[in-house]
Amino acid sequence: MSFYDAMAWLEASPLGHAMRDTGLWTYSVVNLTHILGVAMLFGSILILDLRLLGLWKQVPLSALSAPVVSIAGIGLVVALISGSGLLATKATEYVGNPFLYIKFPAIGLGLLNIWLLHRSSAWRAHRVRALEPREESQLRRMGGVSLASWLTAISAGRMIGYW
Ligand code: HEM
Repeated sequence: MSFYDAMAWLEASPLGHAMRDTGLWTYSVVNLTHILGVAMLFGSILILDLRLLGLWKQVPLSALSAPVVSIAGIGLVVALISGSGLLATKATEYVGNPFLYIKFPAIGLGLLNIWLLHRSSAWRAHRVRALEPREESQLRRMGGVSLASWLTAISAGRMIGYW
């Protein structure tokens, strides 16, 4: 199945029909939901990433990580679900849009980075003890990758509509 076929399948799916056939407000409300999800994800993760990069060292990482991970997780799920609806509306029209091919790998990199962060010994250790300099620099790198990938996803997502 080619990428175009997958997009044609998504467009013809019940989700695509629901997005197009349930009234004028459907797309706008789903779009608003998408942006609220993105705002929750990025707004919270920005604080954590800047902390990992070395700002506000007086704030304990262990006090920040639990609320940030909860809010960012909810925002991510909201963005993924509403984004699928937006894409299904006119999926075939996005084939060939270069910003889509920037956005999805950026989201993939952001998710891979979250997975690696949670698996790292430094992240597990931050809840129970002070981190060694080597662990702090590992988390700093991951904070930088996170910031770069979500900023790229947001910028490319915004640009999709202007192509
Ligand atoms: C499965 C995941 C996702 C899909 C399928 C998806 C799909 C889409 C689509 C189709 C649009 C509308 C483009 C247009 O204007 O025609 C959009 C907009 C956008 N997306 Fe996503 N998205 C997803 C996740 C995300 C994530 C995780 C972020 C950010 C971290 C994001 C950021 C944005 C932004 C900033 C816009 C612009 C909204 C606007 O200008 O009103 N998206 N997305």
